[in-house]
Amino acid sequence: MAQYNLQINNRTYTVDAEPDTPLLWILRDNLGLVGTKYGCGIAQCGACTVHSNGNAVRSCVLPVSAAAKSKITTIEGLSEKGDHPVQQAWAEVDVPQCGYCQAGQIMSAAALLSKNPEPTTAQIETAMNGNICRCGTYHRIQEAIVLASS
Ligand code: FES
Repeated sequence: MAQYNLQINNRTYTVDAEPDTPLLWILRDNLGLVGTKYGCGIAQCGACTVHSNGNAVRSCVLPVSAAAKSKITTIEGLSEKGDHPVQQAWAEVDVPQCGYCQAGQIMSAAALLSKNPEPTTAQIETAMNGNICRCGTYHRIQEAIVLASS
């Protein structure tokens, strides 16, 4: 067990944890940041996506010891009032069906647009390839990302 200072959503959290504890468990169980979801636990579905220094990462396989070295943003910290352009487009296009994957989808899309504000359809497909939607809302996800791009 060790102590870690985590920079999450512009706040510092101090937690005691085993070094290999996945960040996802820390977020959900220790910090109550439950917007980030558990899907597969093996980096295959994207439900747990957060930003590490602005890059989309799978928090289910990111050890807390590694997370402590970077600036983490979760869906709760993406915008002040849920008004990030991707979140606004998400609502406008009415993307979610069950909604379980959407936090991860939105975090992946936001990371993409922060690096590439006007991605092509192919670039969107590549960037979003690791985010699975069991309801099959891919067409609306694509539409929302195009709407959110400048
Ligand atoms: Fe992390 Fe599926 S829960 S990728």
